[in-house]
Amino acid sequence: MSKNTLKKAQQSASRAQNRPRSAPETLDRIQGLEREIAGVLQAMQEKVQQFEYMSDFSALLNSSLDTSLVREKALEATCKLLRCETASLFLVDRKKAELYWETALGDTGKELQRSVRLPIDNRSIAGYVAMSGESVIVNDIANDPRHFKKNKVADGASDSAPKFETRNMVCVPLRARGQTIGVLQALNKLPLFRGEKGTRALFHDDDRKLLESLSHQVAIAVENSRLYENLKQSFFDTVEALAEAIEKKDRYTGGHTKRVVHFSLCIAKYLKLTPEQVEQIRLGALLHDVGKIGIEDKILKKQAPLEGPEWDVMQTHPTLGFEIMSRVEGLKDVIGGMRFHHERWDGKGYPLGLKGDEIPLIARVIAVADAYDAMVSTRPYRKGMDPQMAYDEIVKNRDTQFDPVVVDAFIQAFQNEKMGRGSGKLASNPTNLSNCD
Ligand SMILES: [Fe+2]
Repeated sequence: MSKNTLKKAQQSASRAQNRPRSAPETLDRIQGLEREIAGVLQAMQEKVQQFEYMSDFSALLNSSLDTSLVREKALEATCKLLRCETASLFLVDRKKAELYWETALGDTGKELQRSVRLPIDNRSIAGYVAMSGESVIVNDIANDPRHFKKNKVADGASDSAPKFETRNMVCVPLRARGQTIGVLQALNKLPLFRGEKGTRALFHDDDRKLLESLSHQVAIAVENSRLYENLKQSFFDTVEALAEAIEKKDRYTGGHTKRVVHFSLCIAKYLKLTPEQVEQIRLGALLHDVGKIGIEDKILKKQAPLEGPEWDVMQTHPTLGFEIMSRVEGLKDVIGGMRFHHERWDGKGYPLGLKGDEIPLIARVIAVADAYDAMVSTRPYRKGMDPQMAYDEIVKNRDTQFDPVVVDAFIQAFQNEKMGRGSGKLASNPTNLSNCD
């Protein structure tokens, strides 16, 4: 094309561009622009929402160590961010080289069986992601070679929930400290508009990137909550070891601590307490006699009733326990249970002669459980009392020795729980102790 021809063509195009448009043409153009603006606005709104979901989730991570809450919120964030039907989280069981199902979300999630386990290999998509450390988008799951139907291995949500059909998914690894610790799945992309129902919504690379960003935070949260749980478990193990130590020292009261824990939890069941309060009662009951470590053996192991001065020594055990354990920060809420379990509702107990509500609730519960077990237990110098007689004795002392509310709970526990047996049977058969835990 010559320079002249080119110039003419450009002039003609320019004239065509600038020529006055007809009314229908202008309307079309305006409508097109409106659609474009609506699309841009929609995309912007979506980005703003995504940012809000991310920052809400980050705020939660900074404020909670509640493992199940963090995991549930992680899946909620996944569904909102990626606009999908449900989400699930698998964690790696390193010993068995398997993934185990940890959490799934919503009604669909509730249908899933918690027993789902997947091998870490290419027989399932989640297993492949855990094995390779690569994220995957699968929009046609029925034809994916890793799909469970071809391999007879459950793939995330689909195999375990009969009414649920997985159409597509994004699956990303959770990585912490250089290792894959699990996988996060977003399942079944939802259409953008309700009107799109019937059209098949697909996952795109943007979804993968979003889920990967979220997975970094989820991995940290999962790892933190694991570390916290381990720490908590070590703490409970230490407390149990201490309780065990006192059982070993005072073999004549064999099983007493375990039974007091059991009776205390049975009573707590009828007191409308929070899970934290119940846990405090459990720990307080475990440790209630730990101060006996400081009581000399000739008094502790005496095979006859104690004399006056010996009683004075024995009555120091709540204070000794308090002195031993008060430096443990994690026990500050349960220490009162140990220190005041021999106080009486009417103020005639020891070590301080506290009265009524001055005595911490944990101690009032342990007091009833402790007294009941002391009565039904056989000692070298006397036979254990019949449970019904011990029960009558507790009820008789309602409002004098014992808190009436706690005695009312004890009455219900005695009628409904396994509390009617003496030391030997309860101690030798741990299943008898498990129903109130
Ligand atoms: Fe005691």
